Amino acid sequence: MANASTVEPTRRDMLFIATGAAAAVGAGSLVWPFISQMNPDASTIAAGAAIDVDLSAIAEGAIVTVKWRGKPIFVRHRTKKEIDEAQKVETSSLPDPQSDAQRVKKPEWLVVIGVCTHLGCIPLGHSGPYDGWFCPCHGSVYDTSGRIRQGPAPKNLEVPAYTFASDTKLVIG
Ligand code: FES
Repeated sequence: MANASTVEPTRRDMLFIATGAAAAVGAGSLVWPFISQMNPDASTIAAGAAIDVDLSAIAEGAIVTVKWRGKPIFVRHRTKKEIDEAQKVETSSLPDPQSDAQRVKKPEWLVVIGVCTHLGCIPLGHSGPYDGWFCPCHGSVYDTSGRIRQGPAPKNLEVPAYTFASDTKLVIG
């Protein structure tokens, strides 16, 4: 396992993030690749309505970010390696003990609110020693289940309400 000095995203990771975003949305910022057509308008946000996400557009290994109620939501299509790493953790050893099974409905899909539970920054995906997320603001490290593993954040990344309407359609809200 890497130490804290190696938590910077590698060039490969950055390319991977960019590739994943491009595959899913065709364009977007590196840090926050929204699926713009899926964003609700202001009235929808105000009403707190659900949004749909087309999972067929998200390649295995990719993370996309959609906006829901004004917050970034990370939708991560986890690889088998990422799932295995999330499941093998001794839950009682965690700062905010939760099993991976408590945080996902299908092992290959992790859906979390992309807001650091320390002071609200947006963590970077495929980063940090657990290849989950790294928050550059004060160094919080999350694993591939979005659980806090190191740093000042007190809680795991929050899981929003969501359902699977089909194998390829996620409904958040
Ligand atoms: S806001 Fe993320 S570590 Fe402080």
